[in-house]
Amino acid sequence: MSNLVAVIMAAGKGTRMKSKLPKVMHSLAGKTLIEHVLDTVSHAGIERTLVVVGHGREGIEACIHQRAEIVVQEDQLGTGHAVMQAIPFLEDAHTVLVLSGDQPLLKSETLLALVKMHEAQGASATVLTAYLDQPFGYGRIVKDGENLVKIIEEKDATSAEREIKEINTGTYCFKGAALRNALTSITTQNAQGEYYLTEVFEIFSNRKEKMLTYCTSDSHEALGINSRGQLAEAEAILRKNILEHWMAEGVTLIDPASTFIDAEVHLAQDVTILPFTRLMGKTRIEEDVVIGPQTSLENCVVRCGAEVIYTVAKDAVIGERCHIGPFTYLRPGTNLEAEVKIGDFVEIKNSWIGKGAKVPHLSYIGDAQIGKSANIGAGTITCNYDGVHKHTTKIGDYAFIGSNTNLVAPVEVGEHAVTGAGSTITKNVPAESLAVERSQQVIKEHWHRE
Ligand code: UD1
Ligand code: CA
Repeated sequence: MSNLVAVIMAAGKGTRMKSKLPKVMHSLAGKTLIEHVLDTVSHAGIERTLVVVGHGREGIEACIHQRAEIVVQEDQLGTGHAVMQAIPFLEDAHTVLVLSGDQPLLKSETLLALVKMHEAQGASATVLTAYLDQPFGYGRIVKDGENLVKIIEEKDATSAEREIKEINTGTYCFKGAALRNALTSITTQNAQGEYYLTEVFEIFSNRKEKMLTYCTSDSHEALGINSRGQLAEAEAILRKNILEHWMAEGVTLIDPASTFIDAEVHLAQDVTILPFTRLMGKTRIEEDVVIGPQTSLENCVVRCGAEVIYTVAKDAVIGERCHIGPFTYLRPGTNLEAEVKIGDFVEIKNSWIGKGAKVPHLSYIGDAQIGKSANIGAGTITCNYDGVHKHTTKIGDYAFIGSNTNLVAPVEVGEHAVTGAGSTITKNVPAESLAVERSQQVIKEHWHRE
């Protein structure tokens, strides 16, 4: 693959999506369409990639994050015009691989097979095709016997051509010099008045240059996302593949139909996922973890043997053998050591909680450090925000915080210290001492309301 350059066309608006977002920025299993295509290209070991951007380019450039060189197509005059913008950057490219930013299910093995066949047979152009029962909307592959004659768009096709079930996936391999040359001859004489990249095939055909088709056996790979319906179709296909992959790797899914796992999530062997569970982003789950039912984790790490039920968590680390839930909300910056218990109606944010500590019920813990084996009574609140700044609460190892304690930060409770139920703690509590802050209970015997 010497001197091979990939060009991804991603400048179109995606009118049929009816969206503020450029089409390739729509999300599929937790990654944008353009990231899916970039990943396919980089997994194939292709070193140089250009992305043609135009509509909504700032957002796409930020998303690509310097993974590829950027080529700008100011006006989107068609796929042929998109590739023309890349030509000045392709001077010494022997082989040019052109891909569409809206074809996210393409596999890197298929790309490699396409390039291999193209280079081995010395073709000027090779197009990746597929057979579809319902080819509507795709360019059709018109052949004379085995030989490719042209690619005709749906809108330009005759009714006989529309019957053809072999379609253009929108991925191609070209000999660099032949592509550069043919692109100077394409026109806008077609139903859409655009510069079609596909017109170069007719030019090659007239010049009797060698053209090939490489047909993928997995027609799902061909799916081009032009509409929200096709986006949902791709999501369903990808989701099924992801679930099947993890089951084959030794993960139990009690109900695949209600389990949603993003493309970049990683699960270890003997993980069990209960119904109505969604794992998002770069979540990583270690061995023997049980997740769900009804749990949603985004960019979380869950260590061996933990159990997480009826929980919502984002950017949190859950330690080994922790018990989380039901009805727990872990916000960014939550870091739980091993064997921590967090129970019902507890919210935790930006806090570190030591080994074996317990926050079993009805608490808000924010900007806190809680020592090992500390017990935080029901209804404890860290008052971390004074309306202007956030402050830290520190609770020592083995401390016992009585129910309904308010900890007005910044404040520290020492090791083995105890706070009385209902106290509002505003001063530091030394180690091994008791702090009580509440009025004395008064008893009036034989008291009646007048
Ligand atoms: C294109 C092909 C069609 C093929 C189908 C596969 C052409 C003329 N047609 O049609 O044969 O079956 O893909 O999905 O190529 N783009 C630009 N600049 C532009 C126009 C488009 O960068 O000026 C980008 C789009 O952002 C998109 C890709 O090129 O990522 C394909 O464009 P799209 O409009 O989706 O082409 P289709 O009509 O699907
Ligand atoms: Ca398309």
